[in-house]
Amino acid sequence: MCACHPSLYKTIFYSFLVFKMIEGKRVRLRSFELSDLDEIMKHWNNMELRNLLGGADRGPVTRNEEEEWVRNTWKQRQERRAFTFAIETLTDSKLIGGTGLFNIDWTSRSTAVGISIYNPEYWGKGYGQESMDLILGFAFQNLNLNRVELDVFDFNKRAQKCYLKVGFKEVGRRRKARFIDGKYRDAIILDILKDEWVTRFRESG
Ligand SMILES: CC(C)(COP(=O)(O)OP(=O)(O)OC[C@H]1O[C@@H](n2cnc3c(N)ncnc32)[C@H](O)[C@@H]1OP(=O)(O)O)[C@@H](O)C(=O)NCCC(=O)NCCS
Repeated sequence: MCACHPSLYKTIFYSFLVFKMIEGKRVRLRSFELSDLDEIMKHWNNMELRNLLGGADRGPVTRNEEEEWVRNTWKQRQERRAFTFAIETLTDSKLIGGTGLFNIDWTSRSTAVGISIYNPEYWGKGYGQESMDLILGFAFQNLNLNRVELDVFDFNKRAQKCYLKVGFKEVGRRRKARFIDGKYRDAIILDILKDEWVTRFRESG
């Protein structure tokens, strides 16, 4: 399943032009709600997921902590410090993950991005590529940012392939940056520039 189909690029591009909801072919990005907590708590203490994100050393989290996290996403968006979105399916409005821009540098117009599809049943089916395309569109077309970067651990091959297919390029590596599940792991740094993202739309259109 490939989210890089030309018609998807067009859908995303034109959605931003006419300021529709942030929707692709199969998912939409929306604000997190407190009603999402039940679904979040089904997955967030899955240590496989938390290892992929590098957060397992925090240990299990409580519903109260996650509620605080959701409330914080609203505050950060109002203050323009971070933009965090829930990812939900278009067919049945099911929450499947989250994605967000953070560490935004408004002078250099650069930001970090993160993404997590919570439910393993939805991994490897193209939802990550489509969601990443949508948040890149938001970063470049709505916020007028110029550069988006992310870190991915060396063992997370699925995420690496997803990001490369969306157009990120590897630009560096923090060696043995994190101790995860008994081993030191490298963090690979990837980024994408607005020009590259725009060119991809032109080439696909
Ligand atoms: C990383 C993540 C966002 C990617 O989203 P996704 O929907 O699973 O990925 P996609 O299907 O869009 O793309 C993954 C690609 O890698 C391939 N792939 C799947 N599993 C793979 C594996 N174990 N090794 C290599 N490639 C793999 C898929 O086939 C797909 O390629 P294709 O489009 O050519 O078929 C998602 O898997 C996720 O959230 N995982 C858990 C948390 C996480 O790792 N977050 C990222 C931290 S940096």
